[in-house]
Amino acid sequence: MDNFAAKTSTVPKIQLDIQRDYCKKVKKVISQKYDSQPLACVVTYGCQQNVADSEKIKGMLNEMGYGFTDERTNAQLVIFNTCAVREHAEDRVFGNVGALKKYKHENPGVIIACCGCMMQQPHIAEKIKRSYPFVDLVFGTHVVHELPGLLYKALTGKKRVFEIPDTDGVIAEGVPVLRDEDKRAWIPIMYGCNNFCSYCIVPYVRGRERSREPQQILKEAKELVESGCKEITLLGQNVNSYGKNLEPRVTFARLLRMINDIDGDFRIRFMTSHPKDCTRELLETMAQCDKVAKHLHLPFQSGNNRVLKAMNRNYTREKYLSLINYAKELMGDSLSITSDIIVGFPGETYEEFKDTLSLIEEVKFTSLFTFIYSPRKGTPAAQMPDPVPAEEKGRWLRELLAAQEKISAENMKKYAGKTFKCFVYGKGKPGGHSLEARTDGNIIVEFDGDESLIGTFKDITVTEPLTYVLKGRLAE
Ligand code: 5AD
Ligand code: SF4
Repeated sequence: MDNFAAKTSTVPKIQLDIQRDYCKKVKKVISQKYDSQPLACVVTYGCQQNVADSEKIKGMLNEMGYGFTDERTNAQLVIFNTCAVREHAEDRVFGNVGALKKYKHENPGVIIACCGCMMQQPHIAEKIKRSYPFVDLVFGTHVVHELPGLLYKALTGKKRVFEIPDTDGVIAEGVPVLRDEDKRAWIPIMYGCNNFCSYCIVPYVRGRERSREPQQILKEAKELVESGCKEITLLGQNVNSYGKNLEPRVTFARLLRMINDIDGDFRIRFMTSHPKDCTRELLETMAQCDKVAKHLHLPFQSGNNRVLKAMNRNYTREKYLSLINYAKELMGDSLSITSDIIVGFPGETYEEFKDTLSLIEEVKFTSLFTFIYSPRKGTPAAQMPDPVPAEEKGRWLRELLAAQEKISAENMKKYAGKTFKCFVYGKGKPGGHSLEARTDGNIIVEFDGDESLIGTFKDITVTEPLTYVLKGRLAE
């Protein structure tokens, strides 16, 4: 294999060694400060990238000697890893942080910390500083790997700690990870975003696009597969532009092939793709690689070309549809397509919204993630006139959901009686079937079986397709 080098600011090993030393120092401090092993509660909001960051946070805390709890008011350390993508997510964080005021007052030895995308916005950090004086530590998205040193400062110093450098971002390799599951794992392959879609806060809070070296990703994937992991999801804001900063250049399609070549029975997923960088080569790679799930999450946001332009998405409805049609041509019925949509972008008219409706009718997505536009401070769209009232946007959203419900129900019918290799990932909901699995296309299948099947692939025959889930039984 070629030797790839990232032309980017990889955190030097010496800095990570310093953090490892801080882990030991924190361990000592907390053993003196608390009577028994202190517990940490890490609360994660938002996307899988945040879930992956929280797994690193837990990995470092584990090394520092913390145990873990899901009960905030049982913990000696509560960390809120926040999301800034919509206002609703931010409101929830403020509500939940505020709810800990009394707990902190009664237990002054408890440390309360906030991190993640919300904290990377100066006006939010300022609000925490001013109105939430019981928050001890705030750190931004570019210094997650420095948590041991920051926590040491918060535990031993008299002042509150705010560390939110505004940089283009770094890559920190070798930070310990404590994964939530052992059979399914997230691997971030790139960080940041350069697209600056006009509504989106992500490029401002996550820095510039930077890709991990393929050797590092392959090493992590191999270790996971060897330890029995069955499903690996490759993560990035825009995985299709993976490798642009690498020398020599390596495409996402090439990376997928390298991971597909790892020996073992496992499945590869990836998200999120951007239509502007989604190539025919990538779709061909998906079709050809047996371990790559035939699930394409390709957000289109709007079906109208004027709105797409105002969103700065850099593709047209026609280009999107031609990609989808090519993917369908290559992968046929085995392909499942999902998407993200924004309803009520500033200036969008009902006529323009109807182009989104007609696009979903044409593509027939398996399912959709739909959002009403939420203005984000500092983004260009937040400056645009937005005359449509919220109730009207709500009506459009309901119309979209009703249309998709019919499409989903119709789509699912084609699976009746068919048998799929599914990954059994957990127990079913109380009162329902005992287990839940997912098809290659990421559709949930509920069925009855022994708990020992969790963490394995099983062939399941669909007995009853519902609108969003399938019911099935173990195949004979
Ligand atoms: N308002 C509403 N939805 C948004 N998204 C991103 N920014 C906003 C916003 N300001 C949606 C997009 C994106 C998904 C992760 O969140 O659909 O694909
Ligand atoms: Fe936001 Fe667009 Fe980047 Fe996705 S591609 S994170 S929507 S700016």
